[in-house]
Amino acid sequence: MTIKSLALASALALLPAAAQAAEPTAADAKAFVADAEAQLSAYSDKAQRVFWVNATYITDDTDAMAADAGAEGTLLQVKLAKEAAKFNTVTGLDADTARKLFLLRQAIVLPAPDAPGAAKELAEIATRLQSTYGKGKGTARGKDVVGNDLEALMGTERDPKVLQEMWESWHAVGKPMAGDYARLVEIANAGAKELGFADTGAMWRAGYDMPAADFEKLIDRLLAEVQPLYTDLHCYTRTKLNEKYGDAVQAKTGPIRADLLGNMWAQEWASIYDVVAPKGAGDVGYDIGELLVSKQMGPIEMVKAGENFYSSLGFAPLPATFWTRSQFTKPADREVVCHASAWDIDNKDDLRIKMCIKVNSTDFVTIHHELGHNYYQRAYNKQSLLYLNSANDGFHEAIGDFAALNVTPEYLVKVGLLDQAKVPDASRDIGLLLRQAMEKVPGMPWTALVDKWRWGVFSGATKPADYNKAWTDLRLKYQGIVPPVPRPADAFDPGAKYHIPGNTPYARYFLARILQFQFYEAACKQAGWKGPLHRCSIYGDKAVGTRLNAMLEMGMSKPWPEALKAFTGSDQMSGKSMLAYFAPLHTWLKQQNKGQKCGW
Ligand code: ASP
Ligand code: SER
Ligand code: ZN
Repeated sequence: MTIKSLALASALALLPAAAQAAEPTAADAKAFVADAEAQLSAYSDKAQRVFWVNATYITDDTDAMAADAGAEGTLLQVKLAKEAAKFNTVTGLDADTARKLFLLRQAIVLPAPDAPGAAKELAEIATRLQSTYGKGKGTARGKDVVGNDLEALMGTERDPKVLQEMWESWHAVGKPMAGDYARLVEIANAGAKELGFADTGAMWRAGYDMPAADFEKLIDRLLAEVQPLYTDLHCYTRTKLNEKYGDAVQAKTGPIRADLLGNMWAQEWASIYDVVAPKGAGDVGYDIGELLVSKQMGPIEMVKAGENFYSSLGFAPLPATFWTRSQFTKPADREVVCHASAWDIDNKDDLRIKMCIKVNSTDFVTIHHELGHNYYQRAYNKQSLLYLNSANDGFHEAIGDFAALNVTPEYLVKVGLLDQAKVPDASRDIGLLLRQAMEKVPGMPWTALVDKWRWGVFSGATKPADYNKAWTDLRLKYQGIVPPVPRPADAFDPGAKYHIPGNTPYARYFLARILQFQFYEAACKQAGWKGPLHRCSIYGDKAVGTRLNAMLEMGMSKPWPEALKAFTGSDQMSGKSMLAYFAPLHTWLKQQNKGQKCGW
């Protein structure tokens, strides 16, 4: 996740005098945009610090300060969006001014209406939701466990009763959020309507350099491309879970019990690779978590290893302040938001990550993910304020994941983590691919459905009384999973996933899963790689790094197809690269599934 919080509310007159004339001109529009950028920049510098302190030190006081800053930002952004709309009919705009006016009108996550107090109420709700999540606890074997420990435990616990207890107790964290969430939807929708959108979801879908309706179709088209691979992975995994746990816990047919997949949300399944690994070929010979432990690497060394990868491509080292200002591990004495994120406090080089790092393979990948945000932020820091973002939000989430795809056995040897003698040979390719598929493929239906749920909620198609049912229904429809226990009438399971109380749009993660494979395939081609795709690592290839940087430094200054083309040569998002990566595994899965009734 990347943190982006533009906006401000100053009492300053928002328009330069000339723009207040009856018929605004192209020159007025340009002056307005420059002024808006200055105001947003001043706000951002101030607010980012407040949000950072709140997320790394949750108290009633920092909640109040964050809510104030949030309200100020919403007021400023909405005001600027409305002012920007006044230039809708102006002709002769230069391309940058037109693009920036569009961004000003549309790039707000949660708008508020003009009604007095609305922005304040919205910001208070948003802060309360995020802090409730941050402070959330569940239980395991009757003992209280904080959210991020519980998350990790879902990957290692194998007793279905305990898994059920952890899943159920954690999902109760969402329950008190239901009323707040319904109110948040009301306020944000009223704000979106005042800005000319049907609802907040429609506003979110409008941010992709294409008509909002086409964006929805694009998601469905991409999902349809990759869903057959998911269905086969689901089928194979279900068989293995049935073998391990027996019919009473996991039936041979139908959906999979959500708590058995090694992850609180069943979004990445690599933690149960040991359960599904085929005999022989499935022994891939190493586990990154174990390698880190055996080399006695701690959280900082893990981050250094991540930095080293980017340095090898020619990116400058992280600034000294990154090391002193980041939160790498969970402080012992206070509440924090552990969900990993990357920050660029001053929109220049005050880069930081906020994590509660554990020495395991999941966090090794997440570190690469977060650093991808930081390097992107620094690469585009010479752009003007409204362009300080990725080509589309999926790009931001994809860079670090693309980097982590290069963590191959051969790469691990080069950086001294794995002994050459332990490198798995080609006979282990199915195992390597299966482990990677467990990590990446379940994310496809999952990342598509989170915002399908929110789009329905924002449009009003899903009413508050049906919030939880709609969530459970989508989980069944797309992921083929069911809760381990019937859900109580007052459950609000979406609240138990950070990005719902955190109000982070989620379609970006779907796009990122598609894009990271496109970036990777293109990079490997540029590097002249000839072997199986999943064995390629561009580690140390400065020419590829230069070309990557050329895309990153564009920021949001051009429509995303241009940025995509700059690096990959194609201007289309496509699931084909992902399918190419997993092709040998998909063939193998189909063989394994012969005679099974796949689907649910
Ligand atoms: N903070 C990250 C995200 O939300 C975590 C992850 O990718 O695992 O983008
Ligand atoms: N980082 C995102 C999440 O935590 C996508 O994986 O859900
Ligand atoms: Zn991210």
